[in-house]
Parts: sequence; C-alpha cells; structure tokens
Amino acid sequence: MRIVYHEASRTFHLYNGSISYIMAVLKNGHLGQLYCGKRIRDREDFSHLLELSGRPMGSYVYDDERLFSLDFIKQEMPVYGTTDYHQPALEILQGNGSRISDFQFISYSIGPGKPKLSGLPATYTESDAEAQTLTVTVRDAVTGVEAELLYTIFEDRSAITRSMRLTNRGTEAVHVTRAMSLCLDLPDSEYEWVQLSGAWARERHVKVRRLEEGVTAIGSMRGHSSHEHNPFMALKRPNADERQGEVLGFSFVYSGNFLIQAETDCHRMTRVLVGIHPDCFEWKLEPDESFQTPEAVLVYSDQGLNGMSQTFHSLYGRRLARGYWRDRPRPILINNWEATYFNFTEDRLVSIAKKAKECGVELFVLDDGWFGERRNDRAGLGDWEANRKLLPGGITGLAERITKLGLRFGLWFEPEMVNRASDLYRSHPDWILHTPGRHASQGRYQYVLDFSRPEVVEHIYKQMEKLLREAKVSYIKWDMNRSITECFSAALPADRQGEVFHRYILGVYALYERLTGEFPSVLFESCASGGGRFDPGMLYYAPQGWTSDDSDAVERMKIQYGTSFVYPLSSMGSHVSVVPNHQVFRTTPLHTRANVAYFGTFGYELDLNGLEADELFKVKEQIAFMKRYRRLLQFGTFYRLKSPFEGNETVWMVISRDKRTAIVGWYRVLNTVNGAYTRVRLEGLKPEYCYKNVLSGTTHYGDELMNIGLITTDATAGETKQGDKPCTDFESRLYVLEAVR
Ligand code: DGJ
Repeated sequence: MRIVYHEASRTFHLYNGSISYIMAVLKNGHLGQLYCGKRIRDREDFSHLLELSGRPMGSYVYDDERLFSLDFIKQEMPVYGTTDYHQPALEILQGNGSRISDFQFISYSIGPGKPKLSGLPATYTESDAEAQTLTVTVRDAVTGVEAELLYTIFEDRSAITRSMRLTNRGTEAVHVTRAMSLCLDLPDSEYEWVQLSGAWARERHVKVRRLEEGVTAIGSMRGHSSHEHNPFMALKRPNADERQGEVLGFSFVYSGNFLIQAETDCHRMTRVLVGIHPDCFEWKLEPDESFQTPEAVLVYSDQGLNGMSQTFHSLYGRRLARGYWRDRPRPILINNWEATYFNFTEDRLVSIAKKAKECGVELFVLDDGWFGERRNDRAGLGDWEANRKLLPGGITGLAERITKLGLRFGLWFEPEMVNRASDLYRSHPDWILHTPGRHASQGRYQYVLDFSRPEVVEHIYKQMEKLLREAKVSYIKWDMNRSITECFSAALPADRQGEVFHRYILGVYALYERLTGEFPSVLFESCASGGGRFDPGMLYYAPQGWTSDDSDAVERMKIQYGTSFVYPLSSMGSHVSVVPNHQVFRTTPLHTRANVAYFGTFGYELDLNGLEADELFKVKEQIAFMKRYRRLLQFGTFYRLKSPFEGNETVWMVISRDKRTAIVGWYRVLNTVNGAYTRVRLEGLKPEYCYKNVLSGTTHYGDELMNIGLITTDATAGETKQGDKPCTDFESRLYVLEAVR
C-alpha cells in the first residue's frame, strides 16, 4: 500500500495490491480524476489519461483554449456553473447571493493510519501500518473557504474511504448548501446500477437496472437512512455476476438523509455522488468554523458482487463495528415482542425466560411496554422508568429474577421519541421537532425529540444511565419508530434551521458514543421499525441490528440476501418466530425458520411454552447447533450462490477461514413435482481438501464441489413420495461440510 505524489506531474497515486486511484492537479488548479479501478503499476506521469474535449456548446475556462472545459474533464470535487453543468459535489452560498466558487490546490499531506472524524462514525485502523491517509487542501480565494479532501487507502482491503472537511478561513459567514462526501467521475457508463430498496417488512431487496443518460438516484429525506433505500449502491459491469467481473461498491457511513446518484451525460461519462442529501440541508459556516462530512466508502472488486460484499464484510465487521462484542459470537436470545406485544405481566415474562433457559437460550430481552404509562403505543415514550403496576420490582427486580435463572437480561428503549401522554412531554413540550405555528404531525402516536439540543440528549442519557447502573442489563435494543416531520429546532436561529436534520443525527451518535463508552460490555442492537436505519453509521455503535420486522422465513431469505451485499452476518438480527407468521400469515416448517435465522445473530421471538414436546426437542437441537457453529456462521466468509430474486431456490454458504468447515444453506420456496435434478456449484473451498457431507455421510473433494457442484436433488425429482417425511413447500436443508483430509 502506498500513496505517492509525483511532484513534476502533480499526480497522486493511491494503491495497494488490488486497487489504484489516480488524481492530478489540473492546470487551472482543480483536482482531476484520472483512474479508479484494478491496481496498475505506478509511473511518474499519468497526464496522458487526461482527456480534453472542445465540444460545440461547451464553455471554456481559458478564453483561447476551447479544449479546457470542466464539463468534459473528470474531477474530484467539482462545482457547478464554472463551465461544468453536471450536478456538483460542493456548493457555497455567499453573502452576495452567488453560488460560484473556484477551489484551487493549495497543499497536501500524507500520513500513516487514519484520523478520526470528530462526532461521526467511520472506519478505523488499529495500527498505523493498516492504512495511509492523503489530505488534499483546496481553497476558494474569494470566500476563503478551504476544503480538505481526505482519502484513506487500506493495506489489505480493496477499499478507499473519502470525506471532506470545510473550514471558513475568510472574514464573512457563508452557507454550505451541498457537501458531498464522495465524487467519482467515471469515463463511461457501461454499468448496471444495483440498489437495495424496499419498505417496512421487505427491506433491502436487490434492484438492478442499466445506467442511461440522466440521473439515477436513491436517497432518504425522512431523517433516517430508511426502509426505502439503503445508503449503498454498486455499479457493476453488465457481464459481472456474483462470482466474477468488475464492480464498484459505494456505501455511506451515515444514518440520516442521504443521496447517492449517478449522472450519465450525453457523452456517456458518469459522475457518482455520495453524501448528505442536499435538499433540506444548509450549514452556516462562520469565520473559523468547520464542517466535517460523513465518510463514504468505495470498494472495487474484480470478483463480482461476492468479492465486493466480502470486502465490505471484513471492513465493516472488523474496522467499523467496535468494542467488546465485535469479534465475539453473539448470545442466542429470546425476545418477548411477538410473544406478548404489550400484553405481559412479570410472571409471564419469567415463564417465557424459564422455558427459554431450559432450551439453551442465553439472553432474555424485554421489548416495548415496560415503562411510564405505556400499555399500548399511545403513551409513555420519554419516561424511562419501569411501570410498577406491571413490574413490581422494577427493572432491577425483573433483571434479578432473569439473571437468577442463568440468563442475561436485555432491555428495549426508544430514546429519541416522546408520546404526548408522558411526563417528559408535559414538562418540555418544546423539546420536540416541530415548526412554530404549524401542526406537529405524529407517527405511531409519537413525536421526535429534538436531539440537535444537547440538553435533550443529556436528559435521556441520565435516565438510561441510571437504569443501566441499577439493573443488570447486558443488552439494549435501541428502536426508532417514525420519520421526522416539520423539522425545526426551537433552539436554533432562522439561518441555522437547515442544520437540524444533521445535528439531530449528531445527537443520536453522541448518545450512542456516551452509552457505549460508559457501558462497554453491553451489547447494543439497533432497530428502526425493523430495518429502517440499518446502515454503516449505526454499525459503528451497535454491532448488530434488527434486520426487519418481518420474521417469515421466506421473506427473510430476500431481506437477508440483499442485506448481505454490504453487511456482515454478525450484524443481522434474525429470529425464529411462530406460525402462522405474524407479518404474512404463512406457515413454514420450524427447521426452515431456523435454517434462515442461523445466518445471522439467531434467536427466538415467541413463547416457547406454546410449543409441542417434539418442537421443543427440535428447538434444543437448533440451539445446540448454533452454539457449535455460530463463530463460523457469524464470522466466516459468506458467498451468495443462488438468488431468491431470480428463482424458486436460494442458496448461500459460509466457510471458515481455514477452509475446513463450510455450511451451505439451501432453500426452496414452492415444492416441485417430478422436477429436475438440481445441483449448485460451491465456492471458496480448498480444491484438495476432502469434505464429509454430514447430512449424507458422503465425501467429496473441494474441486468436485466447486466444479461439479453439490447435488441438492430430493424426492420431488422422480417419485412423488419417499419415506414418511415428504418434502413440502418452504423446504430447506443445511449441508455441513467438514474437511476430513
Ligand atoms: C419495532 C421493532 O422493530 C419491533 O421489533 C418492536 O421492538 C416494536 N417496534 C416495539 O414497539
């Protein structure tokens, strides 16, 4: 890994074993983009890569030089209106109303490691040898605004991170109206755009479309990253698939409003922008004030989408997630939400916990409904003290009873919200986000607290801290169940209202930072009505997230498959729930529900007291299986083999680092009759190892399994019924492969 600066040609080359990123200072002082892709050898001068074109209707920077038009030059931090007509990376609104700027190269520095981004989540290094960081400083002479562009390249990961820090070194205030974290100008548009989109209970479905002229974009303006679009996008070459071909992955380490777009122009050049959504954003920079953008991560893969995902998994699993639980297998939990909803007593909770303990569960989680006046979703949020009518001994008493059973105890919070029926709202009605003189809209009968105000965050912190100090709480589920409306803070002046969305998220991060710092061994699971804020920003604080409120096994295949494009299995909350399922009312076999949930953190979301003896027996087996293999399942190398978006079968697998153990998950939605023989080619095995298929007892060499494939044919091919356990709809199997020599 190196970052070199070639003085004579004013060229920067960032490279490691797999990726090259090349920029040069252009003759007008701006930073130009020359190449981003597979590693190429370094040389003194790459200026031949600079393509200039004097096209009709172009405007040009120099009066007598038609070839130098920024519209046709690939740049690193373009602005609009100085011969470039694309959407820009940066826009500064000045006192005289102008938005024109001209950022010229001033200096650069190259340093070991990676600096922290103040107040923001970001990838990190554990030693300086893991990465190098380049800071390029450019300045607009008229406003005096300086931008530091930060680029970090990692030693052994095919990834580059980017962010920008703006400082007003001028004498007058300006307003930053757009500050994208990443801009990448690509020379062509021969790509398919891949996004993860959906809605509540069907998050992160994989959507693919061809790039065409115009803007292709996803984003959120809801105040959180959203169920609708995940802050991720990939550009893949049309011939790339899961196993091979070139892919560029873009991910945004942020939990609020975002925009990711690709603008393809009429000459087929493509500009990618990743950053805070510029709509509803405006940040006032007084002289000497700074603004740091969140971080964007760029991954390059020449091994298809799986290659891209594996880079994200290892980077996000080990250098974004932090703390005690980062590398530890996660406790198998039982959560009472789908078992009881709001309808519980302390004894009922203890009886759920008791049965769970008998089956081998390790952590009991008390979900919504334990605090303040809460008996349904119309009251109580904001008052984080136990409802003594329900829990006579308070949380301390319940935690005591649970831990006496030999289980850990976990608790649900929704720290950012308040109900009208709460002490908090009654004493601080101005603490909600709302616009004066306008109706304050509710969502799920609740308001959003103004987390842009430190005193509000402090108040919530104090309540949570007290509880965590008093009771034996080992786990927190941090929920967030509505989007922001009428965004306005009573604490900020008119010309700073454009800052509220971002300041809100900074407040959320500040609370997370304090709590995780104060209680380092508590496991945090993020949640937002399921996966409404399942993003890299959250992963920095909470090493796992509730992937979706949809716990149906068939729906989960798609959700978890899509989520795995970016996020490691150790981050995906996945539970077995009852049938008929509470979201789609489908009845799937118990083994299929577990076979899907194993590929995540694993737990149960039901009252095990309601199960038959034979089912309980199976649950015990499932838990024993997960305990045996969870390190592999959560931290092994994951491959997607067959997509639920393309057919009736889904297959994925995970393999240990030493390649001696692999688990293949095979799932079929609808049964077939008299069907075809089926097999699937595995990946990542050691060709010369001989693996025992634990299910069939047969042995196979790695090269057989990767080239011939694993035969998954069952009784549905040929005879209609074999034995007394016929296949049904929603069938699934796990193939454990152990190397025997
Ligand atoms: C939404 C979450 O996703 C659920 O798991 C549950 O915690 C409810 N909120 C509780 O209100």
